[in-house]
Amino acid sequence: MPRKRLDIVHPKVARYLESLVPPRDRVLAEMEARAEREDIPIVGPLVGRLFYQLALMTGAKRVMELGSAIGYSTMWWARGVGEGGEVWYTDASEENAHDAIQYLERGGVAQRVHFMVGDAVQCMAAVKGKFDIVFCDIDKPGYPAALRAAMPRLRRGGLLVVDNTLWRGWVASGWGGGDSTKAVRRLNQLTYADDDAAFAVLIPLRDGVSVVVKR
Ligand SMILES: C[S@@+](CC[C@H](N)C(=O)[O-])C[C@H]1O[C@@H](n2cnc3c(N)ncnc32)[C@H](O)[C@@H]1O
Repeated sequence: MPRKRLDIVHPKVARYLESLVPPRDRVLAEMEARAEREDIPIVGPLVGRLFYQLALMTGAKRVMELGSAIGYSTMWWARGVGEGGEVWYTDASEENAHDAIQYLERGGVAQRVHFMVGDAVQCMAAVKGKFDIVFCDIDKPGYPAALRAAMPRLRRGGLLVVDNTLWRGWVASGWGGGDSTKAVRRLNQLTYADDDAAFAVLIPLRDGVSVVVKR
């Protein structure tokens, strides 16, 4: 039987936060509507805006995304890195990549995006050089290994950003989510394990977003 999720913030507070967000352009709005209809777990506009802001704040020019689906979060990163920036899209599904290319072309940023299909961590290993930001949104059991693979690939001052780090509240509830919950809890422990190496904050926005600065 599926376990009930916990509210991360009170539903009224969540609706208030959503009410503040300005309307998105046609392509993002279309992606959001499709995600809603087809139950595709995109980060949504509250978190998308955070990504755009993080890219602006850090002047990021190289962003590696682990788990990109139809390219919604990719769109926010690609817009955030601006002209001359690069984003690596990765997903296990050819079909998702096909759809993402269409959306990102229509969104005017496809030329900044490298599309890779396969295991995301292996895709990252195939790209040379350091990244300003690595964003992780793959299947949750893969989170601890993804973190271990990502940290050495970041420049100093670079960010590891991880979605779903409150995992429907199950990390706190003690029930629900099985192996995924265990893996997210492990990731959270690892991100907070050594402040001198990397400084983490888990932001209780939507389903939880962790931002970890490599020192
Ligand atoms: C939560 S969705 C990504 C949503 C996307 N980041 C967004 O917010 O628009 C996770 C995606 O990662 C892909 N995925 C899961 N595990 C993966 C892995 N180990 N390697 C590559 N892709 C993976 C799935 O196919 C799925 O499309």
